[in-house]
Formats: sequence, structure tokens, C-alpha cells
Amino acid sequence: MGLCPSMLRVSRRGKYVMALLLCASALAWLTANMGDTVKAVTEYTPAPVPERALLEATPSGRKSKAPCPEISPLLHGVLTLSFEPSLTMKEVASENSVVAGGQYQPPECTARQSVAILVPQRSREKHLLYLLHHLHPFLQRQQFHYAIYVIQQAGDAKFNRAKLLNVGYLEALKDHNWDCFIFHDVDLVPEDDRNLYMCDSQPKHMVVGRNATGYKLRYKGYFGGVTALTKDQFKRVNGFSNTYWGWGGEDDDLRIRVELQGMKIVRPPPEVARYTMVFHKRDSGNQVNNDRMRLLRRTAQVWKQDGLNSCSYKTLSVERLPLYVNVTVDIGTPSGH
Ligand code: BGC
Repeated sequence: MGLCPSMLRVSRRGKYVMALLLCASALAWLTANMGDTVKAVTEYTPAPVPERALLEATPSGRKSKAPCPEISPLLHGVLTLSFEPSLTMKEVASENSVVAGGQYQPPECTARQSVAILVPQRSREKHLLYLLHHLHPFLQRQQFHYAIYVIQQAGDAKFNRAKLLNVGYLEALKDHNWDCFIFHDVDLVPEDDRNLYMCDSQPKHMVVGRNATGYKLRYKGYFGGVTALTKDQFKRVNGFSNTYWGWGGEDDDLRIRVELQGMKIVRPPPEVARYTMVFHKRDSGNQVNNDRMRLLRRTAQVWKQDGLNSCSYKTLSVERLPLYVNVTVDIGTPSGH
């Protein structure tokens, strides 16, 4: 080839220099980039989790559902009620296969409140059947997490609605930390599912009108039939009095307790707070309590000692039936109180 040997020498030296330069720059590049990699690892923080995803993540890592809407899209409004004499518990249970042990959670969303419905009763099985028949689908349409507790008074002492409701509250709280309690007569069936079975910032009276009394509020302070109090509102008033045996007065006593605490009774609009009362004669064992006026005069003096904190009873059984939790209880007798 036409290259002189001296040129060949220069070019060989040049190659070494170039090789050296290449090595040096490769080393410099590597050092620079390794540095970045290490820095990137030590300083890495995960990308921020969107707030919604954080809210929806349960401790187990599973995603929970979005809250149910404030007004359920499943509501019907005015309902057609039926009281078929041939209706059976089996039929009502098969219509409500989504209910287990008296309890239900909406599958489509996270309920806004957990509500325990407490129904005191004795020997009113047919009324209970009609109530369950209407109330289960009604509550499901309202999209609440709910359970129905029936509190049965054992023995034949006079009926004590208020004490049974105190027992229901105490027993239901052993199952779940319910937000709201609905104290519900067994013979009252709601006529409109816009009457929401949830609690308010104040104690709520839900029976503005009923068929038996021309859908008129019985009197200004009437607080009977169906009422809704939060767990804390009920605790604040020390629950119901335990001393009202027989019919009447215990609901007025609760109203006095509520007022003594500076709370104010609220009511839904009269056009939705309507009930049908299933006809019945006064039961034996639930005669009018003629002592109720005297008891009502002493509420302000005794409420702190007479109520949830003095409610003694013996639970005889707790049965978890398909449509309700059946609590049978010995609450003693008027004389033994
Ligand atoms: C009784 C209440 C009852 C109301 C409406 C009152 O005289 O004391 O217990 O709910 O009448 O029937």
C-alpha cells in the first residue's frame, strides 16, 4: 500500500490514544449514569394514589363500593299495601332471599347508615308477618344496611314496650355498632317509601298520620308508634323509662327526656309520614296504664337513674331466623321492679 512506515507508526499511536479516550469517556458516562440510577432508587416515592382510590380501599386491600346516593333511585313513593290472610312466613322469606339472619346490605353501594329496627311484641305473630312482608322490600329500596330485631316479652306480666325497646337497643349493639335505631310498633305499616328509615341530627318521629285517626297528628307532642334516634341520642336520654307497664305514657316520657336534653323532635312531611294500622283489639296483658300521668310528672327527677343504665333483664334466647333476630327476654314484673 502507498503509506510510509512513519505514518503507520503515527496512526498506531493514534489508535491507542483513541482507544484510551474512548475508554475514559465510557467510564465517565457509566459513572454519571450509575449515579443517576442509584439516586433514582433511593429517592423513589410511589406516585400519589388518587384520593378516591384511597377512600375506596378497604384495610384488606379489596375495593369497597361508592356510597349509596342520598336519594335512592329505587324508591316507589306511595305503596299499595296488602294484608292477605293466607300469607305465610315461608312466602315472605322466599321473597326476601337476599336477607340473612334478619340483616341486609345493599349489594350495589355502601349504605349511608346502619340501622337497627326494634320491634317489641307478644302474641302478635300475624301483625309481625304483615310488617316483615312490607318492611323488608321497603328498606331494601331505601338502600340502608339494616337488621330487624323482634323483642318478645316472656311470661304474662303486663306488657312493657319501653323496657323491651331498651333491651333491643342493648342486645342489637352486641351484634354491630348501629348508627341509628328505629323503635317500631308491630301493627304500623308505612305507606310511602320516601319516609326514610334513617336518623337525623335530632330525634325523629315518623308517624305523622295513620289511617285509624284520619292521618292527623294525634297531638303536638305525640312521639309514639315509630321513632328514630341515633345511638348517641338514645344514650344521651338514658333510653326509655323501665317503669311503664301496660298501655300508654312511655312515648310521652321519652319526649320529655328528649326535651330535657335540649333536643328538638323533627318529622318528615305529612304526605310521606303515613301509616296503616293493622286492626286489632286491645290485647289482654296490655291494659291502659292508669298510673301514667303520675309517672310522667316525675320524669325530670328520675330519668338519670331509670333507663338504659338500670335495665335489668334475662335473655332467654337469641334466634337468628331468616327474616329477623328473635330475642326472647324475661324483663321481670311491675312489682319486682
Ligand atoms: C298515651 C301515649 C299514646 C297516645 C296516643 C297518650 O295518651 O300516653 O302513650 O301513644 O296517647 O294514643
